[in-house]
Amino acid sequence: MNNISRAQFLQQTAAAGAAALLSSLESFAKEMPTNRLRVAIIGCGSVSNRYLPQLLSSQLIQVVSLCDIKYDRAIAQNKQYNVNAETYPHIEKMLAGVPFDMMVTLTDMQMHGTLNKIAITAGKHVWSEKPMANTYAEGKALLDLAKSKGLRLWGAPAVVNSPQFAFMSKTIQEGKLGRISSAHGQYGHTGPIWSAFFYEKGGGSMPDLGVYNMATLTGLLGPAKSVMAMTSIVTAERTVDDKGKIKVEAEDNAHLLLEHDKNIISHVMCGFNFFDTHGHEAGTTSLHSIQLFGTEGNMRLLGYDWETNGVVLDTVSIQPPQLLCTDKGGYEWQEGARVVGESMVKGIEPRINVEHALHVLEIIEAARKSSATGMKIKLQSTFKWPML
Ligand SMILES: NC(=O)c1ccc[n+]([C@@H]2O[C@H](COP(=O)([O-])OP(=O)(O)OC[C@H]3O[C@@H](n4cnc5c(N)ncnc54)[C@H](O)[C@@H]3O)[C@@H](O)[C@H]2O)c1
Repeated sequence: MNNISRAQFLQQTAAAGAAALLSSLESFAKEMPTNRLRVAIIGCGSVSNRYLPQLLSSQLIQVVSLCDIKYDRAIAQNKQYNVNAETYPHIEKMLAGVPFDMMVTLTDMQMHGTLNKIAITAGKHVWSEKPMANTYAEGKALLDLAKSKGLRLWGAPAVVNSPQFAFMSKTIQEGKLGRISSAHGQYGHTGPIWSAFFYEKGGGSMPDLGVYNMATLTGLLGPAKSVMAMTSIVTAERTVDDKGKIKVEAEDNAHLLLEHDKNIISHVMCGFNFFDTHGHEAGTTSLHSIQLFGTEGNMRLLGYDWETNGVVLDTVSIQPPQLLCTDKGGYEWQEGARVVGESMVKGIEPRINVEHALHVLEIIEAARKSSATGMKIKLQSTFKWPML
């Protein structure tokens, strides 16, 4: 599909049908100045090694700029992945450089809100690694700004893209588990060793790890109405590659209770002090990280919600329990920016949406507040649900 024209592309995807024509993304697709979405990546550290192959694999996307304040990293990634992009040491220089349509933000978590605001103000669409901002208010202001300028903002994680998420969502909506009562998600490892920001204020295991389970459980069960949480710091000091010995300032251990509609309660636990024989990789694990219980059945997701190995379904009519939906269908957790980029070119709205990411950001902030005050915290945000 190299060098395909917009007209040809739209013709080929006509089968995508009326939904595409009604999509709010259609106007973006029509107005795009080129046949491919021009992407600029900011932050060329660890996760860029996952994003670059995804973005470069797409015929509908061109990576035109790479930026990092550690400038040698931008140059090294350009060479390593044969990107053939321009490289920059600063966002302002990148904005003044070669034109692009969407910025992909892969920097330290604490910088996301500031950088995303600069890009949106300059008229760029944004895909942001989590969290899209440091606070719910900052995230909401970003979304309002993007809307006022007719731009799109998207936030990781992309867990709702997996076939296993779709399968679980459909199973719940079809009533196969009866009346849902409770759910649990967990995600932890022994903590990143390369960068201090994971442990500094605004970091922590909730925005880095728990965020996946929060997105999955709210995506499956609906928006949370309130949050209660306890968080703690288990390892007070760490040694990391970029800053040596540091004091840990952000929680590295967290438990959250989420109250959903219809009296459903879910629980998320995450942390940077979770030993697991499998390490961080979930490729072969048959352990489950997400479980949901209803009056007529239960479901367990094998692997992680970011690396999905199948779903065990156990209901009054499915006995013995069966392992189903084992095909990942090409899903990879790092696909989010590519998927939304391609959606913009095609003019078709993807399942992932920014209101959901913003809701999860509000949950994280509410959990911090709940832990600090001992109070149950009410939430104000919501998103379109069910996400089938
Ligand atoms: N590493 C992973 O496997 C992984 C997986 C999923 C999500 N993430 C998320 O991706 C983000 C980045 O994580 P990472 O592990 O790649 O961190 P990292 O420390 O390896 O890379 C971050 C990079 O951003 C650069 N940077 C910081 N501020 C900048 C600025 N103002 N302008 C330009 N560049 C700037 C740093 O110099 C660094 O090279 C985080 O939000 C993290 O939660 C990481």
